[in-house]
Amino acid sequence: MTEINPGDFKILVTGGAGYIGSHTVVELQKQGFPVVIVDNLSNSRDFVVDRIAEITGVAPEFHRFDLADRDKTAGFFASHPDLKAVIHFAAFKAVGESMGEPLKYYLNNLDALLNVLQGMRAAGVENLVFSSSCTVYGQPDDLPVRETSPVKDAWSPYANTKQMSEQIIRFTSSSFGLRAIALRYFNPVGAHETARIGELPLGIPNNLTPFITQTAAGLHECLKVFGDDYPTPDGTAIRDYIHVTDLARAHIAAVRRMFDGRSASDFEVFNVGTGNGYSVKEVIQSFERVSGKKLPVDIVSRRPGDIVQVWADTSLANRELCWEAEKTLDEMMLSAWEWQQSLSNQ
Ligand code: NAD
Ligand code: WQD
Repeated sequence: MTEINPGDFKILVTGGAGYIGSHTVVELQKQGFPVVIVDNLSNSRDFVVDRIAEITGVAPEFHRFDLADRDKTAGFFASHPDLKAVIHFAAFKAVGESMGEPLKYYLNNLDALLNVLQGMRAAGVENLVFSSSCTVYGQPDDLPVRETSPVKDAWSPYANTKQMSEQIIRFTSSSFGLRAIALRYFNPVGAHETARIGELPLGIPNNLTPFITQTAAGLHECLKVFGDDYPTPDGTAIRDYIHVTDLARAHIAAVRRMFDGRSASDFEVFNVGTGNGYSVKEVIQSFERVSGKKLPVDIVSRRPGDIVQVWADTSLANRELCWEAEKTLDEMMLSAWEWQQSLSNQ
């Protein structure tokens, strides 16, 4: 494998103040990559950038603006001719909200992507990593789900923006020498080991892990388990939870693959999960084990739109990206709990 000098490869991280973006910036900076963050802080806070500097000892360059603004994005790329890659996280991500406000999702997620692609073309930036999602698969017919499994009709405008974005990138990729990798994340959870950065859910969280940790912290009366009558061993739904720092490392593996010239084609897709499926009950048991806290639980009916089960075949990412998830479910739950406690103490 060619050894590049990371210091020569400046990377734009859009959405770098967000949950997955901030952890990825930490990993990039630890490996010596210069990073520029663009984020409009629509779903994040400016202290995250200071915390990244605190953890790594390096303050990333930070620009606050909306990537859906075409002129501002063009101006940014014109003033940054030395970028070597873009990792594009910036998007809205709340599935439920996207059902009620589909245009908000199409406008933000697609406009931002198109403006970034335009900017990359104008500035001659040839490497892109895109945040995709396992939601593109819907409920797969065969498990574990492989990258070649069919992309099914989207259940939500959010998932549809990910499907459309992948297609836009696929058709754009060869047109100006662009190489792109779409990473299909499964269920990212947990937080940085320092408990200085983590997920910042605004309002009442929809996702399981922040709801668990907030319930344990006394912010909710009880955790609602959405259905225990699924055709799974314990009746609750199964997902492939992945620690956010493992996920962050997959992005570094992806940019290195492109910088080393190891891409097999202009547009590649990789599943990023652990390859293990855990049920809601198993996640709760893991949390209770590592936190020593018993969660008040109420079994309620299934959440509309939820699939029964999904977990990833990660063999392609393991082989081609030379990457593997390392952290266990207990480590995910413990770090999520430590992050919640640090939030409660602020
Ligand atoms: P996040 O909301 O924490 O981070 C996204 C960041 O992008 C936020 O800081 C937000 O302020 C910023 N942003 C949004 N729109 C912007 C715009 N127009 N201009 C500038 N900044 C903008 O979300 P996350 O969990 O870190 O997710 C990152 C990416 O990964 C998203 O594309 C999301 O769809 C995708 N993804 C997330 C999950 C998950 O469960 N968290 C799973 C699969 C895929
Ligand atoms: C996990 C399991 C719930 C909350 C979502 C998005 C997906 C991706 C990841 C972006 C399910 C159950 C949850 C609760 C519960 N994001 N649950 N009680 O739905 O797999 O995926 O996040 O791309 O697009 O849809 O994750 O954490 O919401 O749910 O019982 O209070 O936990 O029913 O089985 P999901 P989740």
